[in-house]
Amino acid sequence: MVKGAPTFTSENLAALKQRYADAGQAHVFERFGELNDEDAAAFFEQLSSIEVEDCNEFFARTMDSSKQSQQPAKIEPLESGSFDTTLDGAQDGAMDAWRAEGLRLIRENKVAVILLAGGQGSRLGSSAPKGLYDIGLPSGKPLFALQAERIRRLQQLASDDTHNATIPWLVMTSGPTSAATRAAFEKAEYFGLNADDVFFFNQGVLPCFSNDGKILLESAGRVAVAPDGNGGIYQALRLSGALDWLRSRGIEHIHSYCVDNCLVRVADPTFIGYAAQRGAECGALVVPKKSWDEPVGVICLRNRDFGVVEYSEISAEMAQMTRPETSELAYNAGNICNHYYTLDFLQHRVPEIEDKLEHHVARKKIKHLDLETGELVAPTKPNGIKLERFVFDVFPFVERMAILEVDRKDQFSPLKNAPGSGADCPETSRRDLIAQCIRFAEAAGAKVQLVDGQEPAFEISALVSYAGEGLESLKGKTLAANQLITDLDSVVTV
Ligand code: UTP
Repeated sequence: MVKGAPTFTSENLAALKQRYADAGQAHVFERFGELNDEDAAAFFEQLSSIEVEDCNEFFARTMDSSKQSQQPAKIEPLESGSFDTTLDGAQDGAMDAWRAEGLRLIRENKVAVILLAGGQGSRLGSSAPKGLYDIGLPSGKPLFALQAERIRRLQQLASDDTHNATIPWLVMTSGPTSAATRAAFEKAEYFGLNADDVFFFNQGVLPCFSNDGKILLESAGRVAVAPDGNGGIYQALRLSGALDWLRSRGIEHIHSYCVDNCLVRVADPTFIGYAAQRGAECGALVVPKKSWDEPVGVICLRNRDFGVVEYSEISAEMAQMTRPETSELAYNAGNICNHYYTLDFLQHRVPEIEDKLEHHVARKKIKHLDLETGELVAPTKPNGIKLERFVFDVFPFVERMAILEVDRKDQFSPLKNAPGSGADCPETSRRDLIAQCIRFAEAAGAKVQLVDGQEPAFEISALVSYAGEGLESLKGKTLAANQLITDLDSVVTV
């Protein structure tokens, strides 16, 4: 929604005022006369960068389709056999083959990862980017560092005498997260990665609206804007030159994931190998729901196309439906925002469908200027609308989809809520990561000496093991439950 700003002249200002008036948004200039020259020029630049007519249209279309969705689309569960599972070891042989294929693609430098890190993390309640959040591990490492270590370890696992595997890391940020994220990467020396292999890009923003479609101001000289949702990834990838950068590096396969999942298997070779072998253009990892009423989006068919249905969109009866052959829930493919794409899909197919991607209404508390009183209003309940696209909005247009079911405890523990909230919070992230490290050690034949009444603080650095591999030397040892393993030669035994 941005374009180059014209020069700030009285003629251009008059033309801009007229444009906003024609679009029914003249009120944004109501307090323009109070601004000093510098603020007026900055406001002129911001207003010029907003395609006000398009924004109006997005608002109208989105509000309209949210009303129409009262008449629900035909929702059906994924057909059995249209996806695969890694659960219960049912696919052991196949999983090895998928993983080997994924590692081969990484070895040949054909795989990149995209981190979605543009969210404001409002529920978590920290003003810093979520990726910098310390979930209380023995290492004290924030989420960005955990992800970087997994990339480094995977590069090492995939490399051999003749191949030096590199996994480029693309980091999508937004206005609220960009500067702090870049500064943190620089300060941490790219968490041990090569700076040339990290590509930052910014998603777009859209104005915030009142419930009746008027653009809100955050001050007399500034429109209130918000990131355009994680679905902003597609436009941002294209506009930032990221896709050309990937093409120039020979990348063909991409894994994208959310910043707030401490268990994410970044560039998961099993997933990439699976999707690549199926010849998919897009893919998704899913986990079984914890219970029929878990409030999580589920991948399903919507009018026969792939889509995500929110818990609130289906009846209790539908949510409880089971598959006759297995008695599992029919709507069980919990969406965990781990996606696969081919670069061809992102570069050639998505531009054809981008215009068809609708926005969604997010009703939020939006701080804004009361134009009559000139006072800043900090509402206590939702007072306005942000327009967002979701990263899975492309699903209905996907022709060849690969959906792989994985174990939640291996790959998904989201950080959404503030400390102490009991679910999807820092404590559950820490607990789930530590439990996974204990499982890795036990699977290698070690015992972790737990102490009654004490929370274990047992961490194995991802630089030592990406997903439980390489821990053979722990076999037969009894390990102290409070230690950080960064080197297998110096583990603490009891
Ligand atoms: P969420 O939708 O959970 O939002 O993001 P959030 O910002 O982390 O948290 P709340 O809702 O404000 O509490 C899921 C993923 O999508 C990214 C987030 O960074 C996270 O990785 N995201 C979200 C973006 O990249 N851009 C956005 O505009 C929104």
